[in-house]
Amino acid sequence: LRDRRPIIAIDGPAGAGKSTVARSVAKQLGLFYLDTGAMYRALTWFVLEAGVDLRDEPAVAELAHQCEIDFQTDTAIPVVLVNGQDVTQAIRTPEVTAHVSTIAAQAAVREALVKQQQSYGRRGGIVVDGRDIGTHVFPDAEVKIYLTASIQERARRRQLDLKSMGQPAANLADLEQAIFERDRKDSTRTISPLRKASDAIEIQSDAMSVADVLNTIVSLYQEKTASL
Ligand code: DC
Repeated sequence: LRDRRPIIAIDGPAGAGKSTVARSVAKQLGLFYLDTGAMYRALTWFVLEAGVDLRDEPAVAELAHQCEIDFQTDTAIPVVLVNGQDVTQAIRTPEVTAHVSTIAAQAAVREALVKQQQSYGRRGGIVVDGRDIGTHVFPDAEVKIYLTASIQERARRRQLDLKSMGQPAANLADLEQAIFERDRKDSTRTISPLRKASDAIEIQSDAMSVADVLNTIVSLYQEKTASL
């Protein structure tokens, strides 16, 4: 008998559609959704607000322990709170996006946030998206997905996202450059870099709709849980 419910881990590069897909998988299967990228973003926002140098690792580590991150998932759009303050939109600005890789590369930061993620997932029954979920945070997840798309497609989707959030129009070439840069930083850092777990199933989503990806993952989950 297992001591927890199943876990679905969804990793992949920036802008591959992980959070959209993870949210719809969670809804369809009645699981919780944990957005680990939002946690690194929340801390980045907190450090910027505090006016602390992002490269000052001891100061950032100190802030990581003062930064209490909560999720409200009972709302239509999931709300992210930092010490009780709603930062749902503030953590999606280009400024936070440009700096989050610097914060996410720091050992003390990852140690603190991974611990929170693992305690959140202790009982399972969750869909978790990020960069190191299948490799490091939940290496025993029942379903591991590596979701990718070309840089061009990811930039195009990011442009639509920004537009729908009412953010200033962004140029495609600039978005491609920013995504390229974030991929490079996330996959070359020393600690828990972005990497496909050896037992993850890769989904290349350029020509797939959200519904296509959703159905693929739900089928994999059903196959897997039927045999448990
Ligand atoms: O998925 P996202 O774009 O919201 O993630 C923001 C950043 O956080 C991303 O550039 C890398 C980092 N991240 C990470 O290092 N590990 C995770 N598990 C999730 C995100």
